[in-house]
Amino acid sequence: MIAFANNYFYITTKSSSYIMKILPDGVLKHCYYGRRISNQNMDYYNLYTGYSYIVPYMINNEVTTMDALPQECPSCGRGDYRNPAVVIENADGRRVNDFKYFSHRLYRGAVCLESLPYLDTDTGSAETLEIILKDLISGVHVHLFYTVFEDIDIIARHTEVRNITESTVRLHNIMSLNVDFEFSDCDMISLYGSWGKERTPERYTLHHGKATVSSNKGSSGHHSCPFAALVKKDTDEESGEAYGISLIYSGDFEIGIQVGQFGGTRFYAGINSENFSWKLQKGEIFTSPQAILTYSHEGLGKMSRNFHAACRRHLGACAQKKKHAIVWNLWEAFYFEVNEQKILDTINAVRDFGIDVLVLDDGWFGNRENESTSLGDWLINTDKFPGGFNNIIERCKSNGLKFGLWFEPEVISSESNLFKKHPDWCIHIDGVAPMKSRSELVLDFSRQEVVDAVYDSMSAILKKYDIAYVKWDMNRNITDNGSISLSNGQQGEHSHRHILGVYSLMQRFKKEFPHIFFEGSAGGGGRFDFGILYYMPQIWTSDNSDAIGRLQIQHGTSMVFPPETISCHVSACPNHQTGRVTPFKTRGDVAQLFSLGYELDPNHLTTEQIELLKVQVSKHRELEGWLENAEFYRLKQSSDCDSCAWQSVSADKSRSAVLYVTQLTKPEKVGEYLHLKGLDETKKYRVLPLKIVVSGNVLMYAGLPIKRQYRDFESIFFEILEV
Ligand code: GLA
Repeated sequence: MIAFANNYFYITTKSSSYIMKILPDGVLKHCYYGRRISNQNMDYYNLYTGYSYIVPYMINNEVTTMDALPQECPSCGRGDYRNPAVVIENADGRRVNDFKYFSHRLYRGAVCLESLPYLDTDTGSAETLEIILKDLISGVHVHLFYTVFEDIDIIARHTEVRNITESTVRLHNIMSLNVDFEFSDCDMISLYGSWGKERTPERYTLHHGKATVSSNKGSSGHHSCPFAALVKKDTDEESGEAYGISLIYSGDFEIGIQVGQFGGTRFYAGINSENFSWKLQKGEIFTSPQAILTYSHEGLGKMSRNFHAACRRHLGACAQKKKHAIVWNLWEAFYFEVNEQKILDTINAVRDFGIDVLVLDDGWFGNRENESTSLGDWLINTDKFPGGFNNIIERCKSNGLKFGLWFEPEVISSESNLFKKHPDWCIHIDGVAPMKSRSELVLDFSRQEVVDAVYDSMSAILKKYDIAYVKWDMNRNITDNGSISLSNGQQGEHSHRHILGVYSLMQRFKKEFPHIFFEGSAGGGGRFDFGILYYMPQIWTSDNSDAIGRLQIQHGTSMVFPPETISCHVSACPNHQTGRVTPFKTRGDVAQLFSLGYELDPNHLTTEQIELLKVQVSKHRELEGWLENAEFYRLKQSSDCDSCAWQSVSADKSRSAVLYVTQLTKPEKVGEYLHLKGLDETKKYRVLPLKIVVSGNVLMYAGLPIKRQYRDFESIFFEILEV
């Protein structure tokens, strides 16, 4: 609910309140964000008014030190020396702004962003508040949008800068949101990583100055994720206060927490300003990416479940609820050595496993014998596939399977026909040898003709063949940033223009090929964000397919993203990335609560493994109907722990599934009670495989007994069914 009274804006969700005030001078003050309270004049709550020695101030009814004042859209150069929300270079070249309230509008529904992904609502259940500020110095207008999803404690935020003046200005900084708190005794949590180790939670004490997570690689990155949480010291998985922000954006971003000299904390998120500037001519509008903001007083678990709900109910492809397919991917089975006979043999081998889609990964096009060639030449290699894909698709169909294909649309090999024809299409600097990575270069998607050409060559294949699934990869970071098509005053626009081009291509494929299920990937999980999930409901989580390595990765990824978006494959042992040997059962169990798939040569499976595999697949079929709306609980942290445990609970609390994995056997340990969550206290449940019937309150408060495991990497998969 959104209300306006006596210059106060009150945003109320199920469990939170967000309160702002227009001060007499027009500054939009942030008054409160936290646990739900009554709508109330907050004039008594001004800790930071008053004069502070040598710090610039403004005079409203009382003197206010700008560097201490909590604000919604802090300006630059007018006494607040913390991170500004928007920086506009005026026609005279100065970067000084003074944002003051101008007007506001309230309306039902969400805001549709033209070329960026966003949270939407079919039902009109959201409400939006648009506050318009005017920069008293340049005359430019700044629109702050608050779209409120009341039932899930989510506020979607974005900012628009509208140049309503006669002059050209330049935008240097644009945050999607800024929230100022009047406390700082907190921790920050972010997700760090690298290739093969994506999204590991890291918690650290706030210090004076800035703590940031960001990317300048042209994509959200393996090393960071567009997410951060501000949490109280006593916050854990199930209790305490947590504020979470994630951006619906896949390009260069920054999310920061800054503790100021007077003890307040600024939490902000938006486009990374390091290499950003945008020329805004008379009448032009710049729209920031949207950020998702949530508050929980029930710990990190509830914060995650709020993010999951926002994604499942309101985020593009995820909200469309396309059935997730169980795939058999061929990458770790054959790498580049694919051909028609091998694929036909694989179809024969997997046909009665119960899987849905056979996915031909890299290696099917051009002269692609290894990673050094052919990206951009999306033509079937007829030496490997003499009849094109016709025979394969026929064989798939006659065995109840669909066919899927791998593409890496945004890149080009310098050894390719496309490069010979258009050497200037990659991101490069004339006369400078480009930096290479995995022998590939990035196509300049800020250029429409490049995006169109990629669409034409890829869509030719998708139109010709009955393809049900596409794995959309992106395996390198951008260097030599800029575009030969932009003037020298506009090179700072390139990163954002590039990602807009990527989104436009994804949107086009989503629209033109609605029957295709698209899965994102980026050297594993190097671009796992809500931006991609708007176009593709699932993302390959990591090239590290080792079940034990995956515990940490899936654990961290679930901090923000719903389990069914997290693609997890059972692969061969010894594992190709770590050399670790794990039981086949554990490999299946670790994927079971997420999007299960397989990625190995079926001819190397033993008879017992095949029997187990069929059980895993049919169990997943049985669970998937309720898992996609289930509440997810991280019961045990896997880092520095001997075991990891997760639980999913159906929306009506009638079913639950629990995974427990031993990472490090401890002979001295007698076992433990695992305290389940989210069940109905009064319901009775049958626990399989224990064959006991107990009340929800017993499972939650006394716990589920876990006997000592005698071997590393053993797993137990429990099912809890209402009787
Ligand atoms: C990336 C993906 C892999 C595979 C290879 C193919 O690394 O993450 O799963 O598709 O590319 O080159």
